Amino acid sequence: MKVLFVSSEVFPLIKTGGLADVSGSLPNALQGLGVDIRILVPGYPAVLENIGALKTVAELDHLPHIGDATLLEGVIQDTQVKVWVIKAPSLYERDGGPYADKTGLEWGDNPIRFGVLSKVAAILASEKTPIKSWLPDIVHCNDWQTGLAPAYMSLTEHSNAKSIISLHNMAFQGCYPPNWVESLGLPSSGFSIEGFEYHGQLSFLKAAIFYADAISTVSPRYAKEIQTAAFGFGLEGLLSKRGDEIKGILNGIETEEWNPATDKYLSHTYNSENLQGKLQVKLALQRDSGLDIDANAPLLGVVSRLTHQKGLDMLVPHLQFLINQGCQFVLLGGGELAMEKAFEEIASRNPGRASVTIGYNEPLSHQIMAGSDIFVMPSRFEPCGLNQLYGLAYGTPPVVNATGGLADSVIDSNPAHLKDKTANGFVMVEASAEGLVACILRAVNMFNHDKKTWLQIQMSGMQQNLSWDKSAQEYLALYKTLL
Ligand code: ADP
Ligand code: GLC
Repeated sequence: MKVLFVSSEVFPLIKTGGLADVSGSLPNALQGLGVDIRILVPGYPAVLENIGALKTVAELDHLPHIGDATLLEGVIQDTQVKVWVIKAPSLYERDGGPYADKTGLEWGDNPIRFGVLSKVAAILASEKTPIKSWLPDIVHCNDWQTGLAPAYMSLTEHSNAKSIISLHNMAFQGCYPPNWVESLGLPSSGFSIEGFEYHGQLSFLKAAIFYADAISTVSPRYAKEIQTAAFGFGLEGLLSKRGDEIKGILNGIETEEWNPATDKYLSHTYNSENLQGKLQVKLALQRDSGLDIDANAPLLGVVSRLTHQKGLDMLVPHLQFLINQGCQFVLLGGGELAMEKAFEEIASRNPGRASVTIGYNEPLSHQIMAGSDIFVMPSRFEPCGLNQLYGLAYGTPPVVNATGGLADSVIDSNPAHLKDKTANGFVMVEASAEGLVACILRAVNMFNHDKKTWLQIQMSGMQQNLSWDKSAQEYLALYKTLL
């Protein structure tokens, strides 16, 4: 089976969030199951730098706005997964991030940048492909940036391949003024409710949901949630029409990259049989973050985008209280200015007790995951979430809100779950600042006063199989239903 896996970010080439983690690890797992897979990604500077040797495999033409581009092939380091990189300097080679410039302003030509990504995917899946020896059976799209691919496949390229859209986050849809329809080479007939039109705009994500042969979400709970107004971001009606078809598959983690026994970013490694190294990592984290060196202080950790989705504003009102109760706090993240400021202000008021790092830092994210005692993730919605899974793997029980993939992966430490030994974290009863602080206090109490039960909770997470084994099988089964 041949699968073209299309994504706007792929770890370790380019990453802004969990989509990159999934796009870097799921294809590898699928390849392990015998799938012949190629990843398609835009040629951002980071991709061209990080991939190493590249060879030209084809020239592409008839692309909207830019005409021509070159397709290069490389391999993701430490794997045998082939990546096809679209070399189009005028679109992708510039300073800044994949979606926005350095000041956070969205690139004005994003419809072209991701329209071209989608168009190239569709061409490669049609008879027009310049690579006749490799025609995919399945085009696996991810999020809005790839959303036009299923539309091009059915309306302009007449592809025989089947398309899947995996929904990683309904909050981002790629909606643009209607003039883009013609300029991206889409037929005006598609600009209707039965097509890619959404409230008078061209919607990349709606195009995918409407035209794709299959829809998946990154957790079973999220598959249900997005069919309701609270989580569907306006597309709940269309989604519920295809409700029965939407397949929720929980993300796995890359166990080569996220494994406390082998993690290259940790001063000491550890595993479920010996947690000594975890304590050493905590002490090193305290030292390096300017926190008081104190093995007993419950250390609350956060690694996150600081946006409304992640719910960390709910932590702000009671964080001082938690610190007064003896907790330490370490945060790595960035996003909304007001939230960054609020956390920085708390850190400056609490030297030795709270440390806040604004920015993106891969090594520190691993050190916080391993060195903290409790991982805090109170998201208002969370399609899957990878950080709570990393927390489970690293013996850092997560405190989470009961939504999406958090609800599907974290089992609350209530008496029943402690008794049957399934408890692996703490689930908020209510999505509010009060609900969050109550849940954190429950965890802190257990950490302080019942080490035996704490260890049991840590073990439940650390001994779980969180790898892609099972979920990659589910994707494979989904592909098979389409062929
Ligand atoms: P989302 O993709 O919605 O941000 P996920 O939990 O799925 O949430 O994935 C987030 C990924 O991004 C994780 O790999 C996490 O470690 C990483 N991450 C988030 N913020 C930072 C940061 N400031 N520095 C380094 N890694 C980060
Ligand atoms: C999105 C979601 C996150 C999910 C990730 C990977 O970024 O916000 O919940 O884990 O995609 O699927």
